[in-house]
Amino acid sequence: MYDFAADPSLPKPELYRELVSAADALTSGEPDGIANMANVAALVWQLVPGLNWAGFYRMVGGELVLGPFCGKPACIRIPLGQGVCGTAAASAQTQRVEDVRAFPGHIACDADSRSELVVPVLRHGEVIAVIDLDSPSPARFDADDQAGFEALAALLATRI
Ligand code: SME
Repeated sequence: MYDFAADPSLPKPELYRELVSAADALTSGEPDGIANMANVAALVWQLVPGLNWAGFYRMVGGELVLGPFCGKPACIRIPLGQGVCGTAAASAQTQRVEDVRAFPGHIACDADSRSELVVPVLRHGEVIAVIDLDSPSPARFDADDQAGFEALAALLATRI
């Protein structure tokens, strides 16, 4: 087992530099994308505070299918364009939602979720997966969180 710990007083940009560096170390040289997503979901869960769900949806046959995650069991298939995840996948744009109740079509997998950040993972310009983060706190995610998870998504483009 790997025990990664982050100093809770670290400024967010440094926390995310540590996260990306640890994800790099964990996935480097491992060709199995599911194994890499599983370890990265566990790493995010360990290092990033204030989450109630953290994980992946993979693009399979033109829709999103649940991948490795930490949190409560979740909806398995999400059509493109639906919910926060399907919107991120269809637009290839990060979705940062301060209040999920105000997002049209939000899919409530966990009733505790109040805010959400969904970052697409692109390979050769195609969305291959999304990273989905949920928080029970409203407006939990800011521009630093978005930049940090976009850096993680860039690393994972060739690792999942
Ligand atoms: N809330 C997401 C669905 C996935 S769960 O949060 C794990 C959405 O609206 O796409």
